[in-house]
Amino acid sequence: MSYAHRMKVCYILNGQKTEVQAEEGHTLLDTALIAKIPAPYSCMEGSCGSCEAVIEEGRTSEDQENTQIVRTCQALPKSEFVVVNYDKGLQKKICI
Ligand code: FES
Repeated sequence: MSYAHRMKVCYILNGQKTEVQAEEGHTLLDTALIAKIPAPYSCMEGSCGSCEAVIEEGRTSEDQENTQIVRTCQALPKSEFVVVNYDKGLQKKICI
């Protein structure tokens, strides 16, 4: 694994912001858990949706045209800075 290309990810969870370095090949959820951020998850396979969050800034491997919501257990950061908001992901689910 190459450690030459590192990215920063800012996580928003329960109103708190935490910025960490992400290593290439680690999903957004992997990076959060390594940093001891208590991000929500269950299946780790992209099927349950419990790890969903809103990408407020930056690009990921899971970006789609009409939504900023990604399953963080599948999404890899694809820009040097990514902002992942778990609070908005949860709000979206509650409001639907
Ligand atoms: S943990 Fe189930 S979809 Fe990500």
